[in-house]
Amino acid sequence: MHKSIDCGDLRLEHTGQTVTLAGWVHRRRDHGALIFLDLRDRSGIVQVTCDAQNAAAAHEILNAVRNEYVIQVTGLVQPRPAGLANPNLPTGDIEVQATGAAILNEARTTPFYINEDSDVDEALRLKYRYLDLRRPAVQRNIILRHNVVKTIRDYMADQGFMEIETPVLIKTTPEGARDYVVPSRVHPGEFYALPQSPQQLKQLLMVAGYERYFQIARCFRDEDLRADRQPEFTQLDVEMSFIEREDIMGVIEPLYVRLIEQWGSKPILRKPFPVLTYAEAMAKYGSDKPDLRFGMEFVDLSGLLADSGFGVFSAAVAAGGQVKAVVAPGAAGYSRKQLDDLAEVARRGGAKGLVSIAYRDEGPRASAKALTEGEVAAIAAAAHAGAGDLVLIVADASAAVVAKSLSELRLLLGRQLGLIRADAHALCWVVEFPLLEWSADEQRWSAMHHPFTSAMDEDWDLLESDPGRVRAKAYDLVMDGWEVGGGSIRIHRRERQAAMFRALGIGPEEAEEKFGHLLEAFEYGAPPHGGIATGIDRTVAILAGTPSIRDVIAFPKTASATDLMFRSPSSISPAQLRELHLAVTE
Ligand code: AMO
Repeated sequence: MHKSIDCGDLRLEHTGQTVTLAGWVHRRRDHGALIFLDLRDRSGIVQVTCDAQNAAAAHEILNAVRNEYVIQVTGLVQPRPAGLANPNLPTGDIEVQATGAAILNEARTTPFYINEDSDVDEALRLKYRYLDLRRPAVQRNIILRHNVVKTIRDYMADQGFMEIETPVLIKTTPEGARDYVVPSRVHPGEFYALPQSPQQLKQLLMVAGYERYFQIARCFRDEDLRADRQPEFTQLDVEMSFIEREDIMGVIEPLYVRLIEQWGSKPILRKPFPVLTYAEAMAKYGSDKPDLRFGMEFVDLSGLLADSGFGVFSAAVAAGGQVKAVVAPGAAGYSRKQLDDLAEVARRGGAKGLVSIAYRDEGPRASAKALTEGEVAAIAAAAHAGAGDLVLIVADASAAVVAKSLSELRLLLGRQLGLIRADAHALCWVVEFPLLEWSADEQRWSAMHHPFTSAMDEDWDLLESDPGRVRAKAYDLVMDGWEVGGGSIRIHRRERQAAMFRALGIGPEEAEEKFGHLLEAFEYGAPPHGGIATGIDRTVAILAGTPSIRDVIAFPKTASATDLMFRSPSSISPAQLRELHLAVTE
C-alpha cells in the first residue's frame, strides 16, 4: 500500500501517530515558510501542513505541487492549534504535519474546478466525467447508489430471493419502446435485440421453479429521453410464484421504507403507503403518478355546470366530457401575465382554454363573462374556495385532456405557491390500471403495461366485448410524483395469453414467431406468478434530491443518447461492416 490510512478516517485519537497518506491535492495555501494542503482521497479530506524549517525537503516538494497532483505524504498527526479546528470537516480537529512527501503524478490544469460545487456546463462535465466524478457532490451520489444497491441485495436475499443473471443478447421484448439491436456476424442478416427488461426471462424462471427471483438488471430502451429516462438504465427486477398483488407490495414497500430511512434524509409522510386505483388517481390528480406531497385535488363541476349558459361548459358535458377545477390557495392576486401563462400551460395539455375565477376581497372576477353570479358563488362553494383563492377550470369533451391540463396546472401551481413539501417523501401505490389503451395512430389496442399482464378476474369476460373497460392486475409504485416501479400479476395459462395476443391484434403466427417459447413454456406447468421492477436510477436520484438521473449514473448518456467521453455512437470500419453483413445507406 502507498498509504497507511485513509485521509478521511483521521481523528483526534490518532494524535502522535506517524501516518502515510496518498491522494489528490484538493487545495493549497502558501504562507511562505508554511504550506497548507487539503489532501483528498475517496474517504474525505484532511489538512496537511509543512513547515520549511522542520522539513525542508518535504517543503520543497510540496511547494511545487498544484491542484489535483497525486502525492504521498508522511507526517505526524497533531491536534490543530486552539481555535483553528474546522467543525465542518470530520477530520477538522487534527492536521498532519508533513515530514516527508513525494509526487506520484502531476496533473494538468483541470477544465473545471474539482474543489468547488460551481455550475459547470453539463457537456463539459460529461466529456471529462472522470474528473466530474472526483467532485465531492457527484461522488456522494455514486456512494449513495452503492449503498442503496447493497441494501437492496441484502434485503432481497434475507427475504429468500435468489439473484439470477439473464442474458443481454436476446430477442425483442415488448415493453413499449424501440429495441436496440445487435447484428450477428455468424448469422448473416439476423439480429439480437437487447432486453428492454428481463420480463420474459423472469417469467420463464418461475416456470423453472425458482419461485423468488431478483436481479439488479440493466435494461435498454430506444425512446425519447428526458431527465428521468436513459437509454440504458438499471432495475431492481423481481418475480415471485404463488402470490397475489399484496405479496409483491409486502416485499417492496418495506424495502422502500428501509431505503428511505437508511439512506434518505427525509421522513415518509404516510405509512403504510396509500393505495389509489388508477381511476381515483386520474379523477383526483389527473395523473397516474400523483405527487402526494401536497393536496390541490381536482373538483368535479360537471354536474353543477351541465346546464350553464356558458356554452363551453355545457357543451363539454353534453359531449360526454367534464368540467373540472383546481383551487390555487392565495393566488387571487395573480396578474394578467401570470394568468396568460397558466392558460398556455392548459393549452399545451390539449385544453382549448382556461377559465379562471379570482375570489378577491372586492368581489370575484371571472375570465368568462357568461358565468352568472350564482354560478360563480356555487363554484366557490363546491370547490371550497374562499377569499384570496384562484379557481382554474378546464372543460373538454375528452376526460384525458382535462386530466392532462389540470395536472400540469396543479404541479406548476404547487411549485409556484410553495405547496409541495420539500421536507418529506410521499409514496403511494396506483393499482387497477386499464389492461389496454387505444392507439389512435395505429388504430388498435396496445397493452398499457405489457402483454403478459393478467386482467382482473372479474374483467376477463369484457376482453372481447369491451376491451377498454378491462382492468389489469397491474400496479405502480409512485414516489414524489415519479413512477419508480411497475409490475403486475401475469397470465400463466396458454389460452389466456393467446386471448390477450388476439385482443392486441397479434395473430397466431406472429404470436408463435415472437413468443412461441413462452406459450410453449406455459404448457409445462407454469405456476401463478407476478412481479415488479423498480428503477434504481430514479430511486437514487430522488434520495439524492437531484432532478436528473444522469447525476446518479457514473457514465450517463446525454439527452440525445450520446456518450461525450467515448464520443459514441460512432461509425465502424468498412471491414467490420462487411463482417457483419451490413451496408450503411445515406
Ligand atoms: P416498466 O417498464 O414500468 O416495467 O419499468 C419499471 C421501472 O423502470 C424504470 N424505468 C426507467 N428508468 C430510467 N430510464 C428509463 N428509460 C426507464 N424506463 C423505465 C421506472 C419504471 O417504473 N418488466 C416490467 C416490470 C414488471 O412487469 O415486472 C417493466 O420493465 O422506474
